Amino acid sequence: MKRFFRIDLLILFSLTVYALTAQEKPAGNEDLQVYKIAGKQLFAEKNCSSCHTLAAQPEGKLTPIPNMREPEWFATHVKENSQVVLRKERSKRRQRKTAREEIDILKAYLYETTPAERARIDAMAENIAAGAYAVVQNKCLRCHMIAGFGKDTGPDLSDIGTKKDKDWLVEKLIDPDRFEPDTEMKSFKRLPKETLSNMADYLVTLKKARAASETDGQ
Ligand code: HEC
Ligand code: HEC
Repeated sequence: MKRFFRIDLLILFSLTVYALTAQEKPAGNEDLQVYKIAGKQLFAEKNCSSCHTLAAQPEGKLTPIPNMREPEWFATHVKENSQVVLRKERSKRRQRKTAREEIDILKAYLYETTPAERARIDAMAENIAAGAYAVVQNKCLRCHMIAGFGKDTGPDLSDIGTKKDKDWLVEKLIDPDRFEPDTEMKSFKRLPKETLSNMADYLVTLKKARAASETDGQ
């Protein structure tokens, strides 16, 4: 009798598919405060890395940032040394608020992460960190919770990556009413395509972190 399939080839095929899908799946970030991830982006954009290294030892002229100073010192240092003002606001009051937010983001990244979290964040692709920063900048946390932070006007987004794919998320940001008529959520279609794409890339990583308990406990 003729055999219709070969079991060894079938196993090889399944293993290949498994290896490919396991590799593509990004490690979940549902447990990581969005500020911590956004800080990676801000640190790069504000040119902190023109004077500092994130490594433990100096690298050439770059000095490491081992210690947290008093909050006032840190705020002044960031303001004086940020070579770019990221967001120009219409009023002085809002500008001060934005500056405070940026300092909180940098602090969360530099000083409030565990070594295991820092390693995860530093290994993240740039578009994901940029997406996390865009989520903070565009005030999604005013209506949504992520990893225990934010408000609960809208649904908690901590596991949105298990429910929706990237294309859906980009569409939702462009036209929220299409999926939920008369939603409180307004459209973000005025944002550059790249920003929307980065945000969706970040949001799809919001699913259970694989083996986080093994690495974070140290
Ligand atoms: C023009 C160079 C320059 C830039 C840009 C710069 N720094 Fe610094 N930074 C320094 C110098 C010099 C020191 C040491 C100052 C001192 O000891 O008073 C320092 C010290 C620090 C310290 C304290 C480190 C310690 O161990 O005491 C922190 C934290 C820090 N910088 C964070 C930042 C961040 C965040 C940015 C980006 C917004 C930034 N710096 C941008 C030059 C710079
Ligand atoms: C003014 C409040 C508000 C803001 C700001 C807001 N949203 Fe929403 N969002 C909602 C509400 C309410 C819903 C539930 C109704 C709906 O689906 O539109 C929602 C739904 C969503 C959903 C679908 C969730 C699901 O489980 O189906 C996603 C994804 C989402 N928002 C992402 C974002 C992102 C990303 C931002 C920031 C760029 C943002 N939202 C800003 C209020 C808001």
